[in-house]
Amino acid sequence: MELVSSLCNNGVIPASYVHPPEARPGNLIVPLGKSIPAIDLAGDRDQIQIIQAILKASEEYGFFQVINHGVSETLMDDTMDVIQEFHAMSAMDKEMECSKDPDGSCKLYTSSLGYLAENFHYWRDAVAHPCHPLEECLKFWPQKPIRYREVIGAYSIELRKLSSRILEMICEGLGLETGYFSSALSENPKILVNHYPPCPDPSLTLGLSKHQDPSIITLVLQGHIQGLQVLKDDQWIGVQPLPHAFVVNIGYLLQIISNGKLKGAEHRVVTNTEDARTTISYFVYPSSECLIIPAKILANQQNPPLYKGCKFSDFLTVYLSKAADKEAVEEYLKF
Ligand code: OGA
Ligand code: NI
Repeated sequence: MELVSSLCNNGVIPASYVHPPEARPGNLIVPLGKSIPAIDLAGDRDQIQIIQAILKASEEYGFFQVINHGVSETLMDDTMDVIQEFHAMSAMDKEMECSKDPDGSCKLYTSSLGYLAENFHYWRDAVAHPCHPLEECLKFWPQKPIRYREVIGAYSIELRKLSSRILEMICEGLGLETGYFSSALSENPKILVNHYPPCPDPSLTLGLSKHQDPSIITLVLQGHIQGLQVLKDDQWIGVQPLPHAFVVNIGYLLQIISNGKLKGAEHRVVTNTEDARTTISYFVYPSSECLIIPAKILANQQNPPLYKGCKFSDFLTVYLSKAADKEAVEEYLKF
């Protein structure tokens, strides 16, 4: 499977990337979601108001952005630089740098994990690897660009802190006991570096198909190029790139745990002809044996459980085998 970044696209998009009409993006230019709330984590509002804003955004959109979140801007810029440098390397170098683990924990792939089974491909290259505990994971990460391990290592630590802080606020907002998310539920975070090269015809393909994340929450650093769109009331809205913000979205697992109080939203990525877009997602994932069930205090006689419990690894198998199809995944989860 050839990486998108090495396809020689003399202004023509290869047939295997052309999506059938009903799956094409339609309007590439959608209203920017000014309505997707940007929440200031260090403003003069008190903690309770911040928690309320997070809960409200999570209920209404499944998405919000955070600013003044405490992660150093220099580190965010360095991270962007390093991941762009990575994707600018030759396909051979990328392949080599991502094959240091005989067990394959660090993966370089293109389109989606279902490349061989899918009917058409997506305009994206990706690298995915675990990032906690750092000492155990880092030794299988790329060593080129030379600062990859140092910078992405520091980034992973900061994102673990930030995601824990956000989850602690969500925990408080939902009335769950302190630390509800802090053990097995967030033990297995993953880094995903997405790269969407410029595309000769963005109207025919997508960078990432419509999906909802299989995580607890996901934090995305999207840089300054537009492309991420969120489905809200059957309309696509763009997630406006804000300088040094993180985009946070609610995954299926938090939807289950909150018994549907917080809802994830489907989102997708469109491409553009001009600029490569490189993003980095931090997925908060549980350990594979972890049982995902609605929290007891949120599922009771007044609010019957909407979802049956499932082991995280079983959920992920279904999610991948159904290619993230929302109806199929929700059918599986239904009580
Ligand atoms: C993801 C995702 C958005 C982006 O990695 O699940 O939705 O803008 N990424 O790359
Ligand atoms: Ni996503």
